[in-house]
Amino acid sequence: MNKKEAGERIIRLRKELNRHNHNYYVLSHPEISDFEYDMMLNDLIELEKMFPEFYDENSPTQRIGDDRNQVFVQKEHKYPMLSLGNTYSQEELNDFDTRVKKIIGNDFEYVCELKYDGAAISLLYDEGKLVQAVTRGDGEKGDDVTANVKTIKSIPLVLRGDNYPSLFEIRGEIFMSGEGFSKLNAEREKNGTPLFANPRNATAGTLKMLNSSVVAKRPLDCFLYHILGDELPYGSHFENLEKAKSWGFKVSLNMTKCKGINEVFDFIMKWDAERKNLPFDIDGVVLKVNSYRNQKQLGFTAKTPRWAIAYKFKAEQVTTRLLSVDFQVGRTGAITPVANLKPVLLAGTTVKRASLHNDDQIKLLDLHYGDTVFIEKGGEIIPKIIGVERSARESGSTAIRFISACPVCGSKLSRKEGEAHHYCPNETGCPPQIKGKIIHFVSRKAMDIDGLGEETIELLYEKGLIKSIADLYELKKETLIPLERFAEKSADNIVHGLEESKNAPFSRVLFGLGIRYVGETVAKTLANSSLSIDTLMNAGFDELMEINEIGTRIAQSIIDFFSKTENVEIVNRLKKYGLKFELSEDEKELRSSKLEGLNIVISGTFENHSRDELKDIIDKNGGKNASSISSKTSYFLAGKNMGPGKREKAKKLNIAIISEDDFIKMIQ
Ligand code: IVH
Repeated sequence: MNKKEAGERIIRLRKELNRHNHNYYVLSHPEISDFEYDMMLNDLIELEKMFPEFYDENSPTQRIGDDRNQVFVQKEHKYPMLSLGNTYSQEELNDFDTRVKKIIGNDFEYVCELKYDGAAISLLYDEGKLVQAVTRGDGEKGDDVTANVKTIKSIPLVLRGDNYPSLFEIRGEIFMSGEGFSKLNAEREKNGTPLFANPRNATAGTLKMLNSSVVAKRPLDCFLYHILGDELPYGSHFENLEKAKSWGFKVSLNMTKCKGINEVFDFIMKWDAERKNLPFDIDGVVLKVNSYRNQKQLGFTAKTPRWAIAYKFKAEQVTTRLLSVDFQVGRTGAITPVANLKPVLLAGTTVKRASLHNDDQIKLLDLHYGDTVFIEKGGEIIPKIIGVERSARESGSTAIRFISACPVCGSKLSRKEGEAHHYCPNETGCPPQIKGKIIHFVSRKAMDIDGLGEETIELLYEKGLIKSIADLYELKKETLIPLERFAEKSADNIVHGLEESKNAPFSRVLFGLGIRYVGETVAKTLANSSLSIDTLMNAGFDELMEINEIGTRIAQSIIDFFSKTENVEIVNRLKKYGLKFELSEDEKELRSSKLEGLNIVISGTFENHSRDELKDIIDKNGGKNASSISSKTSYFLAGKNMGPGKREKAKKLNIAIISEDDFIKMIQ
C-alpha cells in the first residue's frame, strides 16, 4: 500500500470506528460485533504504526491511554464552574419558583434533569476536536485531565456532522455504573488494594490517576448537561443540548421540559421512586430555567446561578433488627464496634452490618440488643445506624456495653482522655494488630510489595512464617512454594518484590513502620529533617517539637514507639536486611541550609508546584513552614486565590510577600 492509499484508509477507518463507538457507547445500539470492531481497530493501529506521519491525537487508537506518568497542569476555566444551590425541601423549591417568577414573570419553561453523582468535568471543543478536559477544581481553575478523559469511550474525540460551533465548552458529570464499580472493587479486594467507598469516590480517584492506560481500563462514563459558547445554535438550554446529541454527545438522560412547578414536582416524585432501578447513582434532580434570555435576567449570586437549583433526595432509610455487636481490632489497636443486622435491602444492596464507630456513638443511640434500628447509607461502604425505634423495644432488653478486654488477645483495653476510641495496648502480641501492621507495611504507599495481598499475609501469619514486618525479609522461595495457592511464579514475585523494596526511600520505610499519627506527609517531613532513623530514635520530645509541623501528639507517639524494645529490635533487623533508614546521597544533595532560620507561610495555589511540593522544598532547605502569619514569619509565599485576610495581616506586620518565582530563585 502506498502512502496515499494508506492515508485514505486511515481516515476511513477512523471515521467508521468513531461511528461504531458512538453507536455502542452513546446510543447503546451496536451495529457490528465486538470482534469486528477489534479487527478494524487493529487494522488502524497497524497502519498508524507503519505510517506515523498520519498521527492524530484524536484517533480512536489514542483511547488506550499512555502509561507514562503525567503531571496535572492547572487550567483556568473560561467561564467559572459554579455549583448549584440545593435544597431537600419542597417548600424551598416553591420559594425558588416564587423568586424566579417575580423577576421573569409566569411565561417560561423549566428543564428538569437527573442530578448525577460523580465528578464534574468541562470539555473544550475546537473545530470539532476535543482539545481540553479540566476538572472543576476551585471553580476558577482545575486540573487538566485531558489524557485520562480521552480514554472515556462515550466522550467523542471528534464530533459528528459539521454544524457544531467552532469553539465551545460542554460540561457534565463523569461517573461509574453500579456494576462497573462492584467489579472494580471485587478486583481490588482480590489484589489486596483498598476498596473505594462508593462509585463517586472511585470516579474522582480514577480521574486523577497519573497513568492514563490504567484509567482506560476503568469503566468510566459521562453525561453532558451544560453547554457554553458564543455561537450556540439556539437561545435555550434544552434545544442546544438536544442539538449536541447530533454532534455525538451523550446528553443528560430523561431531560424534560416542565411548565410550572407542579410538573417539576411530578418529575421529582417519579425519579425518587425510580432511581433505585437506574444502573448509576443520582442524588437528586436539577431544575433549570430554559431560556438564556431568562437566565440572564435572573443572573448569579456569588457562587451559584439564580436560574437553577438542585433538589436533593433524602438518603433512603429502612428499619431492621440489631442482632449482635462485634468488636473489631484495627492495626493500631483501635476497637471498632460493628452491628450485625437482620439482612435488609437498602439502596440496591443487602445490608447485614453497620459501623457503630465508638462507645460514644453506642451511648448516644442508647442501643439495646434486639432493637429495631433505622439505617441509612452515607458516603461509606458500611451503612450507619442513625436511630432506634424506642416504641418497639422489648421490655427487659439489655443495653449494649462496650467491652473492657480485647476480643482477640484478652488484654485490658485503654481509652485516653479526649480520644474517641478504645485501644488494645498489646501492639506486638495481638494477632489482628500484627497482621494489620504487616498489611500496612507492604501497602502501595509504603513499601509497595508486589504479590503480597491481605489474604497472603493472613496465610503466612497463620502458618507461623511471619510475626512481624521484619520476618518478611526471612521468607524464602522454598518456604513459599509448598504452601496452598502458591506456585513458582507467585513465590518468585514475592521474593523479588521484597528485594526491590530495599530500594524504597527512607520516608516510605518510616511511613511503613506504622507509628501512630505518622502518615505519609509526616513521614516525609521527618525523613527530610532527621536525616536518619538513629537521629529520630534518639531525639527527645523538645527536639521533635522543633521539627516543622510536628506537634505534641506526633512527638509523643514517636517517643512511645521507640521506647518499646520490640520496635527497636524490628528496626535493627530491617537495617540489617538493607532497608533504607536514611536519606540517600541524591536526596541529601538536594538539601541545603538556604532557608535555615526562616519561617515561611504559604497561601493560595501556584502555577508550577502543589502546596505539598513547596512544603517539601522548605523542609529540604532547612526552613520552617508555619500555617499562620505572626511576627515570627520571615516570608509570606503568596499564590492565587489566597485568603485576603492573610495578605492584609502580612502587610500590617510588614512581612515580605513573595511569589512562587521569587521563592524558587531563593533556593537556586
Ligand atoms: S448544572 C451552573 N446539571 O451537581 C449549572 N449539574 O451540586 C452547573 N450535577 O457542580 C451545573 N448533575 O457537578 C448540572 N444535570 C445536572 C447535574 C449537575 C449533576 C453536579 C455538578 C454540579 C453539582 C452541583
